[in-house]
Amino acid sequence: MDTIIYHLNSNEIDQSAIEKAGDIIKNGGLVAFPTETVYGLGGDAMNAKASAKIYEAKGRPSDNPLIAHIASQEMLDDLVEDVPEWSRKLMEAFWPGPMTLIFHKKNTVPDSTTGGLETLAVRFPNHPVAQALIKSAGTSIAAPSANISGRPSPTKGEHVIEDLDGRIDCIIDGGEVEVGIESTIIDCTGDAPMILRPGYITKEKIEDVVGETTVDPSILEKIEDVVPKAPGMKYKHYAPKADFVMYRGNANKVAEKIIGEANSKDAKVGIITVDQHLNLYEGLVGENVEVISLGDVDNLDSIAHALFNVLREFDEKQVEYIIGETIPEENLGTAIMNRLTKASGYQVKDI
Ligand code: TXA
Ligand code: MG
Repeated sequence: MDTIIYHLNSNEIDQSAIEKAGDIIKNGGLVAFPTETVYGLGGDAMNAKASAKIYEAKGRPSDNPLIAHIASQEMLDDLVEDVPEWSRKLMEAFWPGPMTLIFHKKNTVPDSTTGGLETLAVRFPNHPVAQALIKSAGTSIAAPSANISGRPSPTKGEHVIEDLDGRIDCIIDGGEVEVGIESTIIDCTGDAPMILRPGYITKEKIEDVVGETTVDPSILEKIEDVVPKAPGMKYKHYAPKADFVMYRGNANKVAEKIIGEANSKDAKVGIITVDQHLNLYEGLVGENVEVISLGDVDNLDSIAHALFNVLREFDEKQVEYIIGETIPEENLGTAIMNRLTKASGYQVKDI
């Protein structure tokens, strides 16, 4: 398949490109587009065949439901019912933005969009290209992250081109995304909110708006026999091609352990650290070892922004082993560690 690629400037959107991309969605085709979190792979959420194509293009298991993206709060009412009052407060506080809410779906939403579930995840993204595309398509757009299933989520147009060129109808390259980590998913089908996937909007911020909020226990650590409520959280995910291990503990001891292990490998090794610890590695690693900082640990936004890009960079450099430090699991650190832990296949060791 020939994929049409549009390079758009998010501040000055080329409306004719948006209209053509909107027509592709209307006709049941697939368009990858930027959102503020990561790129999405979009198709008409109300068209069962379009959803089926999304699973195929990504190589995604069909029991893993899609998020429907809307461009106004009114669009929500066509998709779902039983919307509790407290969830409206969340919408007021965080929409448009990196938050996804789950409600009971209406019968008109096809089962293939929700992977057979009776609930639907909905997000109102805060990105001018995403909003323009949804409006132009005249429908809500089902969109998972625009990566081949299992790979790190795409934060740049070139990541999407790398994964999906030739597999979908159109890619809108809108440059680098702002946030770099996916939305927070909140289940609104119970009496109180429950976080099913930590994301850019932290638990602390959610609790400021709606009070006590629980977290699906199975997403924080791997618990045998407990299936996460968000089906996608059970798969190995966000994974670079290299074997990836992380060490948690005292910074000096962790660096010592990482350096010893990195230097003992007979292959290319990547070390993941933070700006504050770069000096612990200086002059101590062999020439096959590359040390990359995720950013300033006092500025977790910068780390979230760099995360998936760094994992893809190691792939490009054909690194065979990645050894990383953990970061504190507070505030946005919870979502960052969730992605790193899954990327490593849960290989996080305390020392
Ligand atoms: O920031 C984001 O959320 C990005 C951008 C493109 O909007 N999208 C995204 O989609 O991350 P995806 O498909 O990569 O991840 C969606 C997650 C999966 O873990 C899926 O299982 C879960 O949401 N999910 C979707 N619908 C659900 C539902 N009805 N109930 C429980 N979990 C659901
Ligand atoms: Mg994804």
